[in-house]
Amino acid sequence: MEIIKVVNPQMGGKKAFELFKASIESGAETIGLATGSTPITFYEAVINSDIDLSHVTSVNLDEYVGLSRENKQSYAYFMNDQLFKYKKLKASYLPNGETDDIDKEISRYNDILARHPIDFQILGIGSNGHIGFNEPGTSFDSTTQLVQLAPSTIEANARFFDTIDEVPTEAISMGIANIMAAKRIVLIAYGETKAEAIYNTVHGSVTEQVPASILQRHPNVTIIVDEAAGKLI
Ligand code: F6R
Repeated sequence: MEIIKVVNPQMGGKKAFELFKASIESGAETIGLATGSTPITFYEAVINSDIDLSHVTSVNLDEYVGLSRENKQSYAYFMNDQLFKYKKLKASYLPNGETDDIDKEISRYNDILARHPIDFQILGIGSNGHIGFNEPGTSFDSTTQLVQLAPSTIEANARFFDTIDEVPTEAISMGIANIMAAKRIVLIAYGETKAEAIYNTVHGSVTEQVPASILQRHPNVTIIVDEAAGKLI
């Protein structure tokens, strides 16, 4: 694992963009994308650059179940707002959280991932060590699945909603095995609430109780942290 410490999220976004650009320049055609607060400065760096992504396909990690694409808290809305409306990509995929057939949607998404192996994956991390919405206890062998969000994840994400009761309790998420299949992974974390998860990811034992700890077994991972998230490593 390579660790890069940056002074703030702006510099983190720039650094992640440099790594992303290098992957695109060396032929990456499919990118795995994350939502949430962490990747926002990365997307800013992407849209403020002249990088051409018109030959690139994106696949997102996850989507809440039950929110429409027009709902501002849906990840489909977020991706359009942060990236897709500014940069043309060849194709973009997210799980469909509005489906009335979850099993069919899960197999559709796993098929998409099989057809588009991820060359470069951006990850955030939950304060409980989740990646995607794979909460502690998720099997390292998991592929795309319906997940129940942990109470701590619902609490953390309540900041985006008017009340905590509006936060969906379920999501469709790529599994750990899908994430580990990416050729290159860049995980980003900012702020003190992530410090323990980052310590456990980098120095802890590899355990399903800390989903991100599996990254120790991936051959090509870079972790970008600010001072606060990196203070224990
Ligand atoms: C989002 C995702 C999550 C977030 C994590 C951190 O697509 O997969 O794992 O990366 O919950 O969220 P933020 O960045 O909002 O702290």
